[in-house]
Amino acid sequence: MCGIVGYLGNHSSKSILLDGLSELEYRGYDSAGIAVLHDGEFSYFKAVGKLENLIRKTAEFDTNGFSVGIGHTRWATHGKPTEINAHPHLGNSSYVVHNGIIENYQSLKKQLTAKGKNFLSQTDTEVIVHLFESHLEEGVAPVEAFRQTIHEIEGAYAVLLVTKSKPDTIFFAKNGSPMIVGTNESDEKFFGSSDAALIGNCSQVIYLEDSQLGYVTPTKIYIENESGESIAPTFAHLPESKLSAQKEGFRFFMEKEIYEQSTVISDTLLGRLGSDTIIFDEIEPNLLEGIREIKLCACGTSYHAALASSYLFERLGKIRTSVEIASELRYKEPLLTPDTLFIVISQSGETADTLETLKMAKRAGLRTLVICNVDNSSMVREADGAILTRAGIEKGVASTKAFATQMTVLWMFALYVAQTNKTMTPDTIREQIALLREVPSVVKVPQDLHERLRRLSKRYLHGHGFFFIGRDIFFPLALEGALKLKEISYLHAEGYPSGEMKHGPIALADPELFTIALMPSNMLYEKTKSNVEELSARDATICAISDTPFENADDLIQMVGHTHYMLDFFEIMVILQLLSMEIAIRLGNDVDMPRNLAKSVTVE
Ligand code: M6R
Repeated sequence: MCGIVGYLGNHSSKSILLDGLSELEYRGYDSAGIAVLHDGEFSYFKAVGKLENLIRKTAEFDTNGFSVGIGHTRWATHGKPTEINAHPHLGNSSYVVHNGIIENYQSLKKQLTAKGKNFLSQTDTEVIVHLFESHLEEGVAPVEAFRQTIHEIEGAYAVLLVTKSKPDTIFFAKNGSPMIVGTNESDEKFFGSSDAALIGNCSQVIYLEDSQLGYVTPTKIYIENESGESIAPTFAHLPESKLSAQKEGFRFFMEKEIYEQSTVISDTLLGRLGSDTIIFDEIEPNLLEGIREIKLCACGTSYHAALASSYLFERLGKIRTSVEIASELRYKEPLLTPDTLFIVISQSGETADTLETLKMAKRAGLRTLVICNVDNSSMVREADGAILTRAGIEKGVASTKAFATQMTVLWMFALYVAQTNKTMTPDTIREQIALLREVPSVVKVPQDLHERLRRLSKRYLHGHGFFFIGRDIFFPLALEGALKLKEISYLHAEGYPSGEMKHGPIALADPELFTIALMPSNMLYEKTKSNVEELSARDATICAISDTPFENADDLIQMVGHTHYMLDFFEIMVILQLLSMEIAIRLGNDVDMPRNLAKSVTVE
């Protein structure tokens, strides 16, 4: 996810901005840049790749005396990770940096292009600086021009803007993306999209609220709310540890990433939902022309996302769908026909087996699509089309938010197939879109639920194994629940379709066999219940996850319950992630870096 820094004062802007950006490196990025306004002139530098590249480019540059500067590390969402797309973005005499997504950037871009504005980048961000300058050109004063600009953009943003028309000022705005303003005894002003960038520089900080905007000068911090009313700043103290600041108060990155799922799913949905249509601007409109089958291929958690989505492709898109584990597909001499869309799913975009199957499919003349979290990764470069999942960097080795955003994209893509092939009416697509919009709130973690799972976890630290069971789309979710548990707790766990238990695995049933039963009432509840009863009759210990009371459960994790099984899917996903994490924490394991595992598996 992108990072933002800003500085106003008499020290070296360059050093402060670059130091701040290096503190934000943990968030992941593919390019970086700074712009500094000193003595009425801008100097700006951008570089693709690691921060060292930017540091090298700025080696000869420095400021002496007062300056204002902004900096950014970019994680590509709109447009490739190139120097042109890197922030800051330039108008005529102003620069902007931005985190988030401007949802209405296309219509704004059209209007601004009609007015003669020249766009250099493919980003949504560039509209901000052109919009601001078009207001200046209409004779509007800088503060009002910035206010109007922010009120015209829609979506999620944290924005910093510097302009020659007000050279002692940094403008800022926040909505949905974090932004912190800091100051110290020397009246310097600092900005950061996370505490980590500010620790050591500021004595007090203001955590901006959504819909606030304002500006800083050497003598002032001005903040206003949506209605333009001035807000008295509320100062807070910064945490002292940079590592804990990076974890934003959570014990592990995995925990932080579970809690981030609501935000990153919102990002994933942004700009892709019309009222009754799914919009994927990034793929060619004829991608599905002549396609009669979908083949999904992936590894690990991404494979589970593939398997889960196959239920949606057939059910909603009415298209024949098969799913393959990449390491298996490579050597099975598969029949690959050109009427098949070959979709690979990968968080990293670098997994060797998945990448090789993508190349194989291309050699066989198939059209290919990658659903990936990392732009410019090998798979994104290789595939004919790419849909980015916008989860931001995932540091925990056990995948959580990447899976959540993969499922979001795949559900949308199944609907996209349905709308293209007209297998659903606009009305039924509209209903599904309404459900998709509910997902960010469904995955928010209620504190009482987390506490309940933390307490429950102490009963599940031993035994001779876990079975995670479910039916339909809850079967791949059961597989994912079992994978999460074994990755971080080192306990033996397997995922099974509920109906399969009596075909062998039930032989293991005894009180030391823990069954985690996925039992939402919206999906084949009675069938699953009978399977769980069979296990309970053989004295297996049952932990049911359900919205319905179940008398045979030893433990019941009570779901909120929803109107649709896909919302249940996302609710149970969070429950399984938290339960595994709490078990692993109790066992004293390093949840973020489990033994024997690597985040990106680039060998066969
Ligand atoms: O980067 P990818 O999605 O291609 O990675 C695939 C698997 O290696 C990955 O999902 C792995 O299973 C995770 N550790 C799961 O938590």
